[in-house]
Amino acid sequence: MPEPVLQHIAVYPGSFDPITMGHLEVVTRASRLFGKVILAVAGDAEKDHMFTVHERIEMARDACRDIPNIAVDSFEGLVVDYARAQGAQTLIKGLRAVSDFEREMQMATMNRQLAPELDTLYLMAMPEYTFLSSSIVKHVHQLGGDISRLVTPFTRQLLDRRLEG
Ligand code: PNS
Repeated sequence: MPEPVLQHIAVYPGSFDPITMGHLEVVTRASRLFGKVILAVAGDAEKDHMFTVHERIEMARDACRDIPNIAVDSFEGLVVDYARAQGAQTLIKGLRAVSDFEREMQMATMNRQLAPELDTLYLMAMPEYTFLSSSIVKHVHQLGGDISRLVTPFTRQLLDRRLEG
């Protein structure tokens, strides 16, 4: 694997409920830019999730298992506090379409107010993943649609199990 461009640590925060191929593609590209990338799963207090934080970590670890400089962790509270505690200089986010922009702009600006030393870096989603979100995967799967190219086999297993109840 070629050397990353920067030796810095980056944090890639999200719900990852569940992790999709779109997330995996973004974090893979981030791993080529940064010495270490921490995929940080937001804790259960953040919002209503289909999967527990433990399950979401398990799915993310499985998805990232072949990429040596990615660590998967979870956090509670403010992402900037977590990033500071990890010694990170950058937050990574994926951006799919203009519809993501407003919410992301708000979060990036708030995070800058809270921690001016941290920058948020946006990676544009690949065109084949601009439509993809965890919510649409769950929705289509619940209605019996094929999501096998959108998530890893392990994540699909967990989705199947959840559907069987
Ligand atoms: O995958 P998501 O749901 O878009 O991720 C959103 C997430 C977890 C990155 C965001 O809600 C977040 O950073 N939560 C932590 C709490 C926090 O720091 N809030 C202030 C940011 S404006």
